[in-house]
Amino acid sequence: MSNVLDCIVDRRSIREYKDDEIDNNRLYSILEAGRWAPSGLNNQPWHFILIDDQNQISRLSKLTKYRETMEMSKALIAIFLDKNESYNRTKDIQAIGAACQNMLLAIHSLDLGAVWNGEILNQKQEAEKVLNTPDNLELMAVICIGKPIEKERKSDRKPLSEIVHKNKYGQEI
Ligand SMILES: Cc1cc2nc3c(=O)[nH]c(=O)nc-3n(C[C@H](O)[C@H](O)[C@H](O)COP(=O)(O)O)c2cc1C
Repeated sequence: MSNVLDCIVDRRSIREYKDDEIDNNRLYSILEAGRWAPSGLNNQPWHFILIDDQNQISRLSKLTKYRETMEMSKALIAIFLDKNESYNRTKDIQAIGAACQNMLLAIHSLDLGAVWNGEILNQKQEAEKVLNTPDNLELMAVICIGKPIEKERKSDRKPLSEIVHKNKYGQEI
């Protein structure tokens, strides 16, 4: 899929995966998409840990209530804020969000599926221990990746008329 707008609209969170392995080329392409995200002052305040070891996947899975999805994943990407590189926490976290979305879109365009797991942040410190990260790295999200099991997936969004205003708040577009 080449059209970015189609990719944005067609992407769905995928929570069930086939047993197929994912080749390293595609995983590197996904990480490249993350690396090319925008960031304030281009400070690139992120680190990514690619996890494809089944034992590590299993250990992390035990730290989220979405255990089944994570356990089924063929790879995870844990995304960290590097506090040593941070200049403005709000903007740095926005940049991390951009990196996550870039990776989700890349995953979709490569015919893979993913879901953003934020719930694991409830056990952030335990996850950081499993991943052996230094104190300057703070876990922001884990992206679960796999080959999607085919089924119809629907999602919806608020209409533009509810969330967009023209010239000032409250005026319709
Ligand atoms: C910050 C953030 C955290 C999320 N955390 C979870 C999560 O822990 N578990 C999960 O299944 N989905 C999680 N999601 C996925 C959302 O549920 C999903 O994007 C939303 O329902 C819209 O569905 P769609 O992605 O299919 O369009 C998260 C998404 C974001 C952006």
